[in-house]
Amino acid sequence: MAEKLLEIKNLHVVYKTDEAVVRAVNGLDLTINKGSTVGLVGETGAGKTTTCLSILRLLPDRVGEITEGSIEYNGEDLLKASEERMREIRGSEISMIFQDPMTALNPVFTVGDQIGEVVKLHNPKFTNEDVIERVETMFKLVGLPPERRVEYPHQFSGGMKQRIVIAMALACEPLLLLADEPTTALDVTIQAQVLRLMKELKEKLQTAMILVTHDLGVVAQTCDEVAIMYAGEVIENGTLEDVFDGEKHHPYTVGLFGSIPDIHSEADRLTPIMGLMPDPANLPEGCKFNPRCDHCMEICKTQAPSVYKNGTHQIRCHLFGNQ
Ligand SMILES: Nc1ncnc2c1ncn2[C@@H]1O[C@H](COP(=O)(O)OP(=O)(O)OP(=O)(O)O)[C@@H](O)[C@H]1O
Ligand code: SF4
Ligand SMILES: [Mg+2]
Repeated sequence: MAEKLLEIKNLHVVYKTDEAVVRAVNGLDLTINKGSTVGLVGETGAGKTTTCLSILRLLPDRVGEITEGSIEYNGEDLLKASEERMREIRGSEISMIFQDPMTALNPVFTVGDQIGEVVKLHNPKFTNEDVIERVETMFKLVGLPPERRVEYPHQFSGGMKQRIVIAMALACEPLLLLADEPTTALDVTIQAQVLRLMKELKEKLQTAMILVTHDLGVVAQTCDEVAIMYAGEVIENGTLEDVFDGEKHHPYTVGLFGSIPDIHSEADRLTPIMGLMPDPANLPEGCKFNPRCDHCMEICKTQAPSVYKNGTHQIRCHLFGNQ
């Protein structure tokens, strides 16, 4: 049996703005096993970034709030951990590659100093020379000239900044990496290089990963498991084979994949599907996908579906039953 590293149960997250209460995550369940890569896939606004930020308890102050659920990391509930313990975890056990590299980089420090901070935190006994050596190694690892460590974020291109953010996230050799669209801003060659790098890391350090992406080709190449998100819930999940080649699928997954591409085929991007994501400030009753679903039945409009399980494959839809 695979060993659990992170287990999210019934997570609910809201953003309270002046205008509305935005229900961004609504009862999300997700398990990450040690050393495993899970692809988190879903349309814009599905709650992917919110999920990652919740794990690290980095939701925006006063606005974002976890209202229910638990996030167990190696048996410890992160939602109950002290702020001090969270800082320790963020510095050395779980790191995140942010969707927007500028969120992670401080414009007033050199990039080398910023990566150096992470290295120091993770290796308190390192001398200054050790730290510099390690920073230079990280630079080489992501394909940047090590001598540029003395430069500031604004001196790098977008793709280079993204590599710096990746180097920073990997510098602490995390047990869990939350990679939020890590390659979207990169050109294809560098994208392939970064994905290879992340794969190597996984093999070398047994790093587990949540890889948020819109690109099913990337999922097929990189992930062991897949979780499809819709309106703040995981509506289908399983191994790569379950979700790409399984017989049964959630109607949303079917729409999302167009015709579900073969696992070995070239990258197919998500095809747009009919209708819009529901307004998270005003979610529909019952199954949240019901206004867009071709298979919608009466029960779908009033009752939220429970989870259908078939081995490792899970689907949250009234079309399937466990009986
Ligand atoms: N700071 C905020 N204040 C209010 N609402 C927010 C805030 N951040 C996110 N939201 C809302 O929460 C919902 C989920 O957002 P989130 O960023 O988690 O989606 P996502 O799946 O990461 O989307 P994308 O693919 O575009 O990155 C969206 O409806 C979004 O508008
Ligand atoms: S529960 Fe009903 S509305 Fe929701 S996806 Fe299944 S069939 Fe469609
Ligand atoms: Mg996002």
